[in-house]
Amino acid sequence: MNLESVLFSQGFGSRRQCRALIADGRVSIGGSTIDNPNADVATDALTFEVDGTPWPYRERAYIVLNKPAGYECSRDPQHHLSVFNLLPAQFATRGVQCVGRLDQDTTGLLLLSDDGQFVHAYTSPKRKVPKVYLATTRHPLDDAQLAALREGVLLHGEAKQVAAVAAHARGEHELELTVLEGKYHQVKRMIAAAGNRVEALHRERIGGLSLPASLAEGAWQWLDEAGLESLRVA
Ligand code: URA
Repeated sequence: MNLESVLFSQGFGSRRQCRALIADGRVSIGGSTIDNPNADVATDALTFEVDGTPWPYRERAYIVLNKPAGYECSRDPQHHLSVFNLLPAQFATRGVQCVGRLDQDTTGLLLLSDDGQFVHAYTSPKRKVPKVYLATTRHPLDDAQLAALREGVLLHGEAKQVAAVAAHARGEHELELTVLEGKYHQVKRMIAAAGNRVEALHRERIGGLSLPASLAEGAWQWLDEAGLESLRVA
């Protein structure tokens, strides 16, 4: 692939901008500047540098963000900053989007990708992927609430009950809840329907993929093959 196309595919701007970056001597591979936009480069295991900052070539981007509170999962946020403010601009340019949304005040594991099939597969209501949340509740938890969550609760405006796959109290006000669907405000609405209220919500896991313990709040990392594989494992 020529170097201009490499940069363009990775979100470094329009073709003209990518050509200019290269012609201006700002792009190097392995420490050697390449100023010819037509230079042919092998993309296998390629890492190039732009202004000295390394960037790995990835045909598709799969990333994990440890979402802080106060960020909206939208490129066009209404009231808060966007999660894209926490990411290099290249991701928005190449069409990366959130794989399902977390509320602005929800924290934790957020996946993003520019692989349309992957985004669709993991947001489709047909694909029942378990998602594990830790909710801090306003009122103490009791057995009746846990039983209601497991057996099913009727959400406001819905015709059918929705049940948690698992609901365990981790503390008097700490509830671990596993759900398969991704309905709007689902966890908050389920807990409200069970007679309590969510004060804070954190997503810990999607399928077999846990939020990496080493990933600081607000930080992101590439999801590697092993991470993608663990996602598929419920
Ligand atoms: N359920 C909610 O209520 N909010 C989220 O952000 C995610 C799941």
